[in-house]
Amino acid sequence: MAVPELSEEQAAVYARIETTSDHIFVTGRAGTGKSTLLEHLASHSSKQIVICAPTGVAALNVGGQTIHSLFRLPTGVIADHPIEQGEPLRKLLNSIDTLVVDEVSMVNADLLDAMDRALRQARQRPHEPFGGVQLVLFGDPFQLAPVPGDPDEQAYFADRYRSAWFFDARVWDETDLRIFELQTIHRQHELEFKRLLTAVRHGAVTAEMAKVLNDTGARPAPTEGAITLATTNATVNRINATALGRLPGRALSAVAEIEGEFSGRAYPADERLELKVGAQVMFLRNDSGAEGRWVNGTIGEVAKIGEGTVAVDVAGDRHEVRPATWERYRYRYSPATKTLHKDVVAEFTQFPLRLAWAVTIHKSQGKTYDSAIVDLGSRSFAPGQTYVALSRITALEGLYLTRPLRPSDIIVDDRVREFMAGATAIKAISA
Ligand SMILES: Nc1ncnc2c1ncn2[C@@H]1O[C@H](COP(=O)(O)OP(=O)(O)OP(=O)(O)O)[C@@H](O)[C@H]1O
Ligand SMILES: [Mg+2]
Repeated sequence: MAVPELSEEQAAVYARIETTSDHIFVTGRAGTGKSTLLEHLASHSSKQIVICAPTGVAALNVGGQTIHSLFRLPTGVIADHPIEQGEPLRKLLNSIDTLVVDEVSMVNADLLDAMDRALRQARQRPHEPFGGVQLVLFGDPFQLAPVPGDPDEQAYFADRYRSAWFFDARVWDETDLRIFELQTIHRQHELEFKRLLTAVRHGAVTAEMAKVLNDTGARPAPTEGAITLATTNATVNRINATALGRLPGRALSAVAEIEGEFSGRAYPADERLELKVGAQVMFLRNDSGAEGRWVNGTIGEVAKIGEGTVAVDVAGDRHEVRPATWERYRYRYSPATKTLHKDVVAEFTQFPLRLAWAVTIHKSQGKTYDSAIVDLGSRSFAPGQTYVALSRITALEGLYLTRPLRPSDIIVDDRVREFMAGATAIKAISA
């Protein structure tokens, strides 16, 4: 699948990023093309750009590195602890024009303030926010929030910050964040579905809307082809293991080849992948070939397992799939050439497949599916969770629910509501 051409509003935001040094937050409802714009920026900008994201999965998705590994920051609250920086890191941070952060809704205020301090320190510009670097943030605060820390960390945030959200970081007392909200949804095309999703996003679902969603979702789910989006890993593993066990035959396993420092949590695929003929699988990355036979998120069925190859049927076509190599990057500055390099520090080789009868809603973030079974289990427990799940699906006819939605499944964070209400006004002035 080719990268789509930018729409007019995406192009206008791109121009704003390219021609100014404003700090910019690009937001918008699910499917408005934020990540598409980020990819365009990464490949077309003439600025020295570094890309990072709060989690390993999100960083791999956009070919960047995690914020923690880029800045060599310790995990947990950083507060005003001294930040240690070696010479190579200082040089690297001095070479950046623009720092791009994806999935910024999951970055907490303490981490953003630490990034600010690290940049001021490295660039020896103690009085300039982010040491003079332009920040470009992408994300939707109505989707996933920062992961709440342990009780001590939560107490720290309660004490020192208005909220844990990135937009409540102290650095914004000293500088402006220009907000651009993309308006056009590209993932869904039905007006009715877009209206329902927008209501879920804002916690404004009426009884009439709930009835449409629940009546649509109550149809019996298809036995193949649809993925289950569930709230917990335990549910996902149970659904996948049960489904694999039900298939006849013996499971064959493929063990990943791992080189370099790939911390266990950041593995982009299973270390030991168990497959059987008939297994429902999801591709974990885009086809590297020119034909683009599949994309990250495509669902298929295992047809044959051979030596170093797996045949997967996708919508009537059979594809030979070979192991793929994921590269983990680290940015490095070369003083000799005064340029920024992206070094490969680790490689992980595995079939780009995972069992896909179910995935967590967390891991479905950023993805697009034609149909899905949404399993909220006993309850949806995080702000934005139900919205992320429902908004992955391209059309209403692809929605299946394991149980009806309840009002308590739709959780909207009050501070997000307040900030975003004010943000629209800021956008109108700055646009
Ligand atoms: N200008 C465009 N023209 C056509 N299709 C587009 C355009 N921009 C994005 N899309 C398509 O819309 C879908 C959603 O885009 P994308 O994933 O970039 O949205 P997003 O805002 O990042 O969504 P999310 O908030 O869920 O991460 C993708 O399938 C993408 O290819
Ligand atoms: Mg996205």
